Amino acid sequence: MNIRCAKTEDLMNMQHCNLLCLPENYQMKYYMYHGLSWPQISFVAEEPATGAIVGYVLAKMEEETEGTVGGADEPHGHITSLAVKRSHRRLGLAQKLMDQTARAMVETFNAKYVSLHVRKSNRAALNLYKTALLFQISEIEPKYYADGEDAYAMKRNLVVWAEQQGILPADPDSFFKSKGMEEKKK
Ligand SMILES: CC(C)(COP(=O)(O)OP(=O)(O)OC[C@H]1O[C@@H](n2cnc3c(N)ncnc32)[C@H](O)[C@@H]1OP(=O)(O)O)[C@@H](O)C(=O)NCCC(=O)NCCS
Repeated sequence: MNIRCAKTEDLMNMQHCNLLCLPENYQMKYYMYHGLSWPQISFVAEEPATGAIVGYVLAKMEEETEGTVGGADEPHGHITSLAVKRSHRRLGLAQKLMDQTARAMVETFNAKYVSLHVRKSNRAALNLYKTALLFQISEIEPKYYADGEDAYAMKRNLVVWAEQQGILPADPDSFFKSKGMEEKKK
């Protein structure tokens, strides 16, 4: 399976995959917003023989301007959506997609961490995030989803990970200055 950066022409296939896999769906303009604003950090898993898109990660960058220690802006990535078609699960594709997006966030945007939301009941995704990707739960967001289910807000520290992987961040000086996930002001 090819894991490669998503192009504009992939966005419709990503939306199709999303509709098959998740109840959280988005209009095409929201995919376009991601693809045009941060073209480096969304990825697809593509079947080489057919060119079919069997998985995707849709990602964006966020800048936290309030509430961080010292008031520093902490660039960080956010996973808007991740899915792998049922026929292609448990092959390590989600893990690879998530690692590619994390690497691109560090190399291109100096992201010190990546955040996401996940349903409390989503056992597969929670296991992927906690066990395989070492995300930590940062808070519980009650009734985050349209049907009233709570979300876990999770974060993955990219500073320690990038160091271990030998990834060169966009700005090494500021990237390695802190350990990544700054504590929120109480
Ligand atoms: C969650 C999802 C993206 C995982 O995709 P995947 O490609 O099958 O995941 P991977 O093969 O990369 O799994 C890596 C690890 O995650 C964990 N994991 C993945 N699926 C799991 C499952 N069904 N049950 C338990 N652990 C699971 C395992 O630790 C796995 O490693 P292993 O196979 O060596 O045990 C996929 O199940 C999916 O698309 N689900 C529907 C959409 C969704 O829930 N998206 C996330 C929204 S927050």
